[in-house]
Amino acid sequence: MTVEIRTLRVDEIADATAAMDGVMRRAYNAPTFVAQIGWYSSVQPDCLVVATDGETIVGTGCGIAYPDAGFGWIGVIATEPAYERQGIGKRITEHVATILDGLGCASVLDASLAGEPLYGRMGFVDHGPTRVMAVDPAVAVGSSVAGGSSVAGGNVGAGSGAVGGAVDGAGSGAAGGAVVVPGGAVDGALVTVMSSTVFPATELSATSAGDVADVAAYDASVFGADRSELLRLLVHDHPGRSAFVRSASGAVAGFVIAQHAVIGPFAADDSDALRALLAFAAGLPWDNGARICVPPESVHLPTLVELGCHTVRELRNMRRGIDVLPGRSDRYAGRISLGIG
Ligand SMILES: CC(C)(COP(=O)(O)OP(=O)(O)OC[C@H]1O[C@@H](n2cnc3c(N)ncnc32)[C@H](O)[C@@H]1OP(=O)(O)O)[C@@H](O)C(=O)NCCC(=O)NCCS
Repeated sequence: MTVEIRTLRVDEIADATAAMDGVMRRAYNAPTFVAQIGWYSSVQPDCLVVATDGETIVGTGCGIAYPDAGFGWIGVIATEPAYERQGIGKRITEHVATILDGLGCASVLDASLAGEPLYGRMGFVDHGPTRVMAVDPAVAVGSSVAGGSSVAGGNVGAGSGAVGGAVDGAGSGAAGGAVVVPGGAVDGALVTVMSSTVFPATELSATSAGDVADVAAYDASVFGADRSELLRLLVHDHPGRSAFVRSASGAVAGFVIAQHAVIGPFAADDSDALRALLAFAAGLPWDNGARICVPPESVHLPTLVELGCHTVRELRNMRRGIDVLPGRSDRYAGRISLGIG
């Protein structure tokens, strides 16, 4: 039977999710992709692509466009193992790239070892390694003493006590320890972590919608594109696992969202901000350890290594139609995921 490549209609996505997840799980040999599929379908529902053999989904790929920045991300390209080496992976990738192109976006992806030769022949250019690093909480949390970090801010929602305790227990506390703020000021929970050089604790005793907007603007300045909708989803889905720092001037100087297995997005202006945020994130509860997907341009790699992170896997960051990404990508320490950027 002929394998067809097509974009899912929005009304098909819910029913197709389990089958797509199945193909991805078998292709990548990983536990689940449901959260990733959910992000794509929330933010870019017109860019979920499948290969079908009759009624059966045998290949997948997704894209997310950042039209204000002129690039988009391609991810979770997967071919059912029994269908490999028939050109399906290439056709799916081209299909996703064509959708992104129609939205004014060049294509960026992090290629696995299996995907790299394929993308190379499709005209994607290698821009260096994206490293997946494992975090050693004992080192990362302890290091915040050297970084002089302190907890200053409020947390809203579930798990706040544990979060405050985790960071405070890291040897900080110069500004008075964690303040748990009752009530829900924002959708989800941002925890403010301050470095020793920032305002008095009282000025940041509660998070607010304004803080979330400031963090989204900061993320846009680093990533190069507006991802506020994605950030809101992530903060909401990971209550008590987000934090940001402000510099002495009051400007946001870094932020992190700790997902269930990945610390990212994660960005920081300098190594002090990085240390404070990593100490916060690493001190949270983790079921199976934490990973950080570090982009090739990141200036933070040496600090992450110093803080006990070590590379467990390398991918190649590849781009077609764009050479230099906008923003301050050297300040980016950890991706949301390998498929989203
Ligand atoms: C990487 C992956 C998507 C490739 O899927 P695929 O459908 O086999 O891809 P293609 O068939 O388009 O290309 C794969 C190879 O088959 C070759 N090929 C294509 N059509 C062919 C045909 N008719 N006969 C023989 N070989 C063929 C291609 O030239 C390519 O060769 P290469 O491996 O030397 O580069 C798939 O192996 C996979 O899902 N891997 C696990 C997940 C993963 O790593 N995804 C990529 C993330 S970036």
